[in-house]
Order: sequence, then C-alpha cells, then structure tokens
Amino acid sequence: MNDDGAAAGLAALGRLMRGRFSCRAFLAEPLPRPLIAAILEVAQRAASWSNIQPWGLNLVSGAPLEAIRSELFACAGATPPSPELDWPHEFSGAHRERRRECGWALYAALGIARGDRVASGRQLRENFRFFGAPHVVLVDCDAALGTHGVMDCGAWVGAFLLAAHAAGVDAVAQAAVAAHPGVWRRHLAIAPGRRIVCGIAFGRQDPAHPANAFRTGRAPLEEVVTWVG
Ligand SMILES: Cc1cc2nc3c(=O)[nH]c(=O)nc-3n(C[C@H](O)[C@H](O)[C@H](O)COP(=O)(O)O)c2cc1C
Repeated sequence: MNDDGAAAGLAALGRLMRGRFSCRAFLAEPLPRPLIAAILEVAQRAASWSNIQPWGLNLVSGAPLEAIRSELFACAGATPPSPELDWPHEFSGAHRERRRECGWALYAALGIARGDRVASGRQLRENFRFFGAPHVVLVDCDAALGTHGVMDCGAWVGAFLLAAHAAGVDAVAQAAVAAHPGVWRRHLAIAPGRRIVCGIAFGRQDPAHPANAFRTGRAPLEEVVTWVG
C-alpha cells in the first residue's frame, strides 16, 4: 500500500476510534435484531490466541433484561461486590490520575461537585440499571483459559464497541455489572466452569442527557511507548 492508501485507511479507522465514546444514558427503544446480528458478525472477526474465540456471549433484552435490571439494582450498595474474576485491588500513579480525571469529567458534566459522595454514588448505581439500555451482552469465558482467555474477551469487547459505533449504535463496556454474578446465573444458563467477564450495554444514546456530553482524552504516546532500536 502506498502512503496515500495508508493515510486514507488510518483516517477512516481514526474517525471511528475518535468518534466512539462510552454512552451512559440510553433511549429505551430496542434495536432491530438483524442490526445486532450484523454488529456481532463484524466483532466476531476479533483476533484471539490460536483463533480459539473463547468469548461466550449472552444477548439479553426484553423481559429477562428487565428482571435482571431490577435485581442487580437492588443488590447495588446493599451487597458487597463478588466478581468471579478479581478486580484491581488498587490504582496507583498514572492509572489513579487518569481514573480520577475520567470520573471528574463525568461528574462535572452531570453537575456533581467533587467530594459529593451521595450524588456520585447515585450515578455509579446507574451502572446496575445499564443506564437505561434496551440490550446487554454479558461476556463469559472458560475458567481453564485463565488470563489469556480473558485477554481474548477484551479484544472482542473492543471490536464490538467499534463495530457498534460504525453501525450508529451507542454502547458502554461495564465491568461493574459483573459484581453480582449470582443474579446473572439465576437468569442465564452460564456453565459452572465459565467466568463472567463483563457486560456491554448498548442501544441508542439519549442525545439530550449530560452524561453523554463529555469525552475522555488519551495519554500522549511518550507516556506509553518505549521505542527500541
Ligand atoms: C472492560 C471495560 C470495563 C468498563 N467498565 C465500566 C463500568 O463498569 N462503568 C462505566 O461507566 N464505564 C466502564 N467502562 C468505560 C470506561 O470508563 C471508558 O471506556 C473509558 O473511560 C474511556 O472512555 P471512552 O470509552 O468514552 O473513550 C469500561 C470500559 C472497559 C473497556
């Protein structure tokens, strides 16, 4: 490919990468199933170790989603999180800073003052209502694959988010909803040898909601790249 081809290819992908954002307020209107299937077909092209494609995808909508939504929301705050895969025990250094910046930007968009634990806690709990989304895909993985299975699932999550955006569908990945696996397991047939990784809520954004009005930045390359040779 010549330089023009590379520039055009990167510009097209860059537009998608830069245009995508985590949606945290959805309209209730469900999406047509063929559109969801088309997004899944594209995300299915994600790369994985030896092409094992270890992601298990539970596509939940309608009445089952409503039941899970109300049970999860009731758990939030009342029951301590017990995810099947360990969450980080702490965030330090640059990770802590980037995390705080992202949280503050969200809270600023919502008019929540720094240190207002009540209001920020209320916003955090919206995770368990999937921010009003009409669809959730819950990702699970064979426990025997360990870290590498989960890594492949992460690649699938990235592919799904991008495919959804390319199709004009808004989405947010949600580690939070893995906090209460018992709720999911009561409603979905997830085999005992599999572990719940995360969810992705998706649908159409509520364009008027302030939670959708902020965008995150990214660290400059110098912070993350070590050029060798
Ligand atoms: C695996 C994963 C889990 C995430 N979990 C949550 C979550 O539980 N709740 C939430 O509001 N956002 C969650 N996010 C969204 C991130 O906060 C978001 O991707 C990040 O701040 C970058 O912003 P952007 O997606 O708008 O570019 C998650 C993202 C990923 C990739």
